[in-house]
Amino acid sequence: MEKNHDTVIVLDFGAQYSQLIARRVRELGVYSQIVPFNTSAEEIKKMAPKGIIFSGGPASVSQALSPRPDKEIFNLNIPILGICYGLQVMSLLLGGHVTCPEKKEYGIANINIIKASKLLKDVSNLSQVWMSHGDSVDKIPEGFSTTANTPNCPYTVIEDEKRNFYGVQFHPEVVHSVEGQKMLSNFVLDICKAKADWNMGNFINEAVESIRKEVGDGQVLCGLSGGVDSSVAAVLIHKAIGDKLVCVFVNNGMLRKNEAQNVLDLFGKHFNMRLQYADAEDMFLTALKGKTDPEDKRKTIGKLFVDTFYNEARKCGEITHLAQGTLYPDIVESKSPFGGPTSTIKSHHNVGGLPEDLKWKLLEPLKELFKDEVRELGRELGLPEELVDRHPFPGPGLGVRCIGEVTKERLDTLRDVDAIFIEEIRNAGLYHEIWQALADLLPVKSVGVQGDERTYREVCTLRAVTSQDAMTADWYRLPYDVMQKCASRICNEVKGVNRVLYDITSKPPATIEWE
Ligand code: XMP
Repeated sequence: MEKNHDTVIVLDFGAQYSQLIARRVRELGVYSQIVPFNTSAEEIKKMAPKGIIFSGGPASVSQALSPRPDKEIFNLNIPILGICYGLQVMSLLLGGHVTCPEKKEYGIANINIIKASKLLKDVSNLSQVWMSHGDSVDKIPEGFSTTANTPNCPYTVIEDEKRNFYGVQFHPEVVHSVEGQKMLSNFVLDICKAKADWNMGNFINEAVESIRKEVGDGQVLCGLSGGVDSSVAAVLIHKAIGDKLVCVFVNNGMLRKNEAQNVLDLFGKHFNMRLQYADAEDMFLTALKGKTDPEDKRKTIGKLFVDTFYNEARKCGEITHLAQGTLYPDIVESKSPFGGPTSTIKSHHNVGGLPEDLKWKLLEPLKELFKDEVRELGRELGLPEELVDRHPFPGPGLGVRCIGEVTKERLDTLRDVDAIFIEEIRNAGLYHEIWQALADLLPVKSVGVQGDERTYREVCTLRAVTSQDAMTADWYRLPYDVMQKCASRICNEVKGVNRVLYDITSKPPATIEWE
């Protein structure tokens, strides 16, 4: 890809925070890309970055097989910032020493600034930082001086201004490091002198160019689910190659109310895309008949989805690429500790388990981005706000929210309940405060009374959670009046339901979805 902006690369030593570092750099308006720790100095030179950040990582430099960068990187005359493990490995390779002290340091610390420093310019003394390390540098390399320390860590910030090498023992990229972004800005903008001219507009231009080059005369197939990631990927690819993109939308009968029509209208009519619609409702519901075990249901849905997808693909002519809305966090989940990011396992998982011997090449134009960056990209591409800001929705759809057996009738009931719940949350202005809101239909009936008559109907539960990443979640304290409105509307408007419960379990011990 022809780059017309400055880049700062993040050399990834297996840290859980590598992507966060890249993202913080992008927040400064400078493009940032993550590359594996063993990328050769030659390759890095070709990328011509304005700066290099060594990420943290779970290893100890004392381990023989711990990840090391190509030593030639230090001769490229490019500024380097080492973070945590990055600082340690840099110190070791440049002649310093790292020890494994008995006292580890995790959590908040305050840095004592002892010397004027380019990296710490305008950072206040005793500024709060986030520490998380076992090893510590106990001898810094020649040419370096210490500019800040903490009671537990004598070499918290070290610098060699002459060579433009910097190291911090803490994690400036996390929010608990209160002035961490200031430090990253000092490194990226002042020390590396990178120009802050990157934005989503540039991203689109470059991605379009790169997609055109990659696809050439080929044809791309994209499974469109109506969710944020696949929608943004499809619109971006469509912008690049127009009718060489074919989208397939599978209606498995477990979609939300009006979902199929909305997707057809938006992508087929508004964006004028080639869109193949597979109405597979009967096939899915027949296969699910009598099944109540959650894993059995999930597997059945996943397999049928892939079969339908492949069937539809046959009707599209010669396909060369399969497009997916894989995001960076998806890749992180499947990468090996030191092997750098690999995308295959999770990407296949995205469409429910594509075969390993997939004959198409993967096209994943969002794989460097985070969810909120994808949302911003979606807005820039003209996708409507209701779509861009949607809560996550699971691949197996309402099938895993219809607890017990999945039937058309129960799905219709659940669709109505879900639509009321989401509408009331939106009406109350709470939709964006909530990570995810969902309704489940339980395999339980209860007695009620309506219009002086006894009823014996199904029970539904409403669940709303807050979360950062869906790994953990807390139940959302939905105001009583909103709960009351939901319960009253659901019992009045949805035929099969006479009782509404609110789920107050966090994750763990529960998961977000019930199945
Ligand atoms: P759990 O229920 O494990 O869910 O707490 C965590 C997040 O993942 C979503 N989820 C899925 N997403 N395919 C998906 O694309 C799936 O099969 C799937 N199952 C759960 C869930 O909605 C929540 O946001």
